[in-house]
Amino acid sequence: MRMRRKKNLDTRITSSSDFMIDLPILPLDVRKANQIRAYLDIEGIFGRRAPLHLEIGCGRGGFVVEMARLHPEIDFLAVEKISNVAVSAMEKVKDAGLSNVRIMITGAEYLSSYIPPHSIDRIYLNFSTPMMKRGYEVSRLTSPRLLTMYRGLLGEQGSIFQKTDDEPFFDFSLESYREVGYTLLNVTRDLHGEGTVEGDVMTEYERKFVSMGLPIYRVEAYVDTID
Ligand SMILES: C[S@@+](CC[C@H](N)C(=O)[O-])C[C@H]1O[C@@H](n2cnc3c(N)ncnc32)[C@H](O)[C@@H]1O
Repeated sequence: MRMRRKKNLDTRITSSSDFMIDLPILPLDVRKANQIRAYLDIEGIFGRRAPLHLEIGCGRGGFVVEMARLHPEIDFLAVEKISNVAVSAMEKVKDAGLSNVRIMITGAEYLSSYIPPHSIDRIYLNFSTPMMKRGYEVSRLTSPRLLTMYRGLLGEQGSIFQKTDDEPFFDFSLESYREVGYTLLNVTRDLHGEGTVEGDVMTEYERKFVSMGLPIYRVEAYVDTID
């Protein structure tokens, strides 16, 4: 199914169904794409100004739907690069009748073209594909290049909350956060073994890994130094 159609790139994007944002197609070449500004009109899309959270790689949307249900005062953007998976997430949002979530079909690499600078309060990276083979370092969702880009999307008090089941990927991520200058808090290598973090919601992948008895790694990375 083709979900996106070409649009004039010099207008701000307000066009969204109730659940999915209709994004203009960017050049496949990320460097060329990153030169294009096709910013979302966030207030136009949600019809209000509210704290804005972004989940990157939302899969079938279980996490973002539950978070949006628990936090009607927050607006959520959820990004998924595989269109049929994103459609599942959209159907979940629709079934839940939520007005504070929009799904976007795109890759993380293109987000700086769509999201206005410093407009995001928190980013969630839940069970991102680790891509631990050699040569894939720059494609990982916590590569220094992408963490630098996310910092440009985050506001002054912005944060990234990450969970993963993959220890080498977790270690790579911690190193990347430090390299880019994020402040790390609440680092755990056994989230559920140490008791739950208040407000934390389990994702679909997380349920699977927890039921297999695997430890979950979690970190909070802050743009600003927090005393
Ligand atoms: C392992 S799944 C985790 C799904 C969900 N977050 C969860 O925890 O249940 C990773 C998801 O991230 C998506 N993904 C991987 N790379 C991405 C990228 N560069 N941009 C957007 N989504 C991506 C994949 O298509 C997949 O749906």
